[in-house]
Amino acid sequence: MTAVDDKTVVREYFNATGFDRWRRIYGDGEVNKVQLDIRKGHQKTVDTVMAWFMADGNLAELTVCDAGCGVGSLSIPMAAAGARVYASDISEKMVGEARERAQKLLGPDQIPTFEARDLESLEGHYHSVICLDVLIHYPQDKAAEMIQHLSALAESRLVLSFAPKTIFYTALKKVGDFFPGPSKATRAYLHRQADVIKILEANGWTIQRTAFNKTQFYFSRLLEATR
Ligand SMILES: C[S@@+](CC[C@H](N)C(=O)[O-])C[C@H]1O[C@@H](n2cnc3c(N)ncnc32)[C@H](O)[C@@H]1O
Repeated sequence: MTAVDDKTVVREYFNATGFDRWRRIYGDGEVNKVQLDIRKGHQKTVDTVMAWFMADGNLAELTVCDAGCGVGSLSIPMAAAGARVYASDISEKMVGEARERAQKLLGPDQIPTFEARDLESLEGHYHSVICLDVLIHYPQDKAAEMIQHLSALAESRLVLSFAPKTIFYTALKKVGDFFPGPSKATRAYLHRQADVIKILEANGWTIQRTAFNKTQFYFSRLLEATR
């Protein structure tokens, strides 16, 4: 399957069954045990990023691009903490949900600019670009191009998270547990941390902070790169 096909599949998935599934996982309503576990794991990733940015103490001065924002799990707390947030996602449905949640939770001046756009078509410059759990939709040979594009948008910081390719997780993925459940419908690509770091360094970045957030069914390596 080519990357173009992958992208179409991903867009259609997150506008249909994937939207229903992930909107529930990234919400606070009742979900099954596996989904609850993934919700908790993903929340750890969001909390880690928020803690990093809050520790720097200058969020209110920053422009932030949340590339592949989903339902706004990160965009909303970022905006609530004072950042000027631009958020986009390839799925109109995910962006629509993010906008609705933001309108409920934020003041009118805080609401991020939301757009349905794939991240390859993003333009402009932001202090920080963040892209959480999106690389899972990119085959290894497309990751460099994607990270290079995000690098061109980011002035000072790029934060990425991805499912790490290790022997253990490769085996787990093979037995079909990566996105468990019947609504699993997209391919999941794991990435080697060393490969991602090499791509970041080739784009002029230095790794500052790292974290690994995991629960039973969720695992995500988080890297903060600055320049
Ligand atoms: C697993 S979700 C993560 C959402 C969000 N970053 C978060 O952590 O809450 C992956 C998201 O990436 C989006 N996505 C996948 N490929 C994309 C692309 N090429 N451009 C923009 N968004 C994309 C999907 O529509 C989906 O909302």
